[in-house]
Amino acid sequence: MSQFAADRLLLFGATGDLSRRKLLPSLCALDADDLLPENLAIIGTARSELDTGAFREMAREALEEHLPKDRRGSMATFLNRLTYQPLDASTLEGFDALADHVRSLGRGEGDDRGGLAIFLSTAPSLFEDTIKGLKQAGLADDNVRMCLEKPLGFDLASSAKINDAVAGAFPEDRIFRIDHYLGKETVQNLLALRFANILFEPIWNATYIEHVQITVAETVGLEGRVEFYDDAGALRDMVQNHMLQLLALVAMEPPTSFDAAPVRDEKVKVLRALRPTSANETVIGQYRAGAIGGKAVPGYDEELKERDLGPSRTETFAAIKAHVDNWRWKGVPFYLRTGKRLPERVTEILVQFRCVPHSIFDSVQAPGGTGLQPNKLLIGIQPEENITLSLMAKVPGLDEDGVALREVPLEIAMPDAFVGQHRRIAYERLLVDLIKGDQTLFVRRDEVEAQWHWIDSIRAEWDAKEMQPRTYTAGSWGPSAAIALAERDGVSWHE
Ligand code: BG6
Repeated sequence: MSQFAADRLLLFGATGDLSRRKLLPSLCALDADDLLPENLAIIGTARSELDTGAFREMAREALEEHLPKDRRGSMATFLNRLTYQPLDASTLEGFDALADHVRSLGRGEGDDRGGLAIFLSTAPSLFEDTIKGLKQAGLADDNVRMCLEKPLGFDLASSAKINDAVAGAFPEDRIFRIDHYLGKETVQNLLALRFANILFEPIWNATYIEHVQITVAETVGLEGRVEFYDDAGALRDMVQNHMLQLLALVAMEPPTSFDAAPVRDEKVKVLRALRPTSANETVIGQYRAGAIGGKAVPGYDEELKERDLGPSRTETFAAIKAHVDNWRWKGVPFYLRTGKRLPERVTEILVQFRCVPHSIFDSVQAPGGTGLQPNKLLIGIQPEENITLSLMAKVPGLDEDGVALREVPLEIAMPDAFVGQHRRIAYERLLVDLIKGDQTLFVRRDEVEAQWHWIDSIRAEWDAKEMQPRTYTAGSWGPSAAIALAERDGVSWHE
């Protein structure tokens, strides 16, 4: 871990959507809880010709819109940390003025100089020019770390190009690649569940687990990001990063400690063990007009038309049967499913265990019971954070017609278990770690590249087979073929 705490945070894309919806609110919420270094200065930069006053005003509006009142603390104190310097990152001009501005807020020269954390939340097409400008202006020294937001490329080759450009100015131990799912409390809790309990690890393998399902369902559509999304699609937007990180955390071997190198070493082994998926193990879909929560919503085709864009083959839904080719997971399918305009917003992981090897209650399905069912563990990530283990129990009674068994849930609702603790925005945790310099919850280059390698193999299959997305009605669980994909194996998606 690079051992300096940043005393300045430089936000590129400071007037953009991510900054307004997540970064500024997260920083303000941290400040309200006294979790930012006392002297931390936050410098915003973007193309807009604002001055510091106007930037603070924009920030105030963003906070009022996106941060609940009870988490804002003293907004005035937070806003005072902010300054602004306009910059067109596509030209080298302007970087020197930015560097002067940044230096004027630092702790000075020598051993005592403070550190700088840079957060790039701009279009990736600007990354290379920005890095060049930073380097030339002396903002890439050994007291500077660089944080990058996705999308980091659209395939392995383009991602390698971005990574090479960043590596030209920053060593890997000062590069922080964000996958905001790793900032989610329940995602981190997966590691606690697996590695802080003796209960699960001995049965966390192909002998006892029949399959795993990972669902990331969204009700939202394109949210004004039509052009971006139409170039990306669900596979690149959600599977390449968030879903594969979830899969890696479920499937990884125990790391030796909760530190950056051991955690990321184990994740990358899983990602490299992903078997290229054949076309008949994937289903893609694109939504058409429908209704969600009783409200009519337009189809993807209509949203494109509104922007004068033609019909497209972009998938807004993907279901994939994935395989991790190693000893632990031999023969255990991982069913992944994600989509826009699905009936509910839910991210969850279902671990389906196998049946008991021999049932002493064999063939008894007494009245009032469900018969013997294999156990399952459901890990709810959002919107509810809960863990539910389904166990078999005897239905109370005199058993005159045999022992009636029924599945009962052993349930932990995290907010109830930890009353009074904030449910924090994922970026709060990631920003704190960035300022401190802890890379554990950031994605290493080899992970990103292993993720792209697998995703590219899927896309190549789709292209070779000229796969077209199947349509599904907004508000449904995707094309019926996605249900068939699991049902062929006797598996039902958890709903
Ligand atoms: C982003 C995707 O990475 O994650 C969006 O680009 C998606 O399309 C979002 O909506 C989902 O994040 P969350 O935290 O709302 O599940």
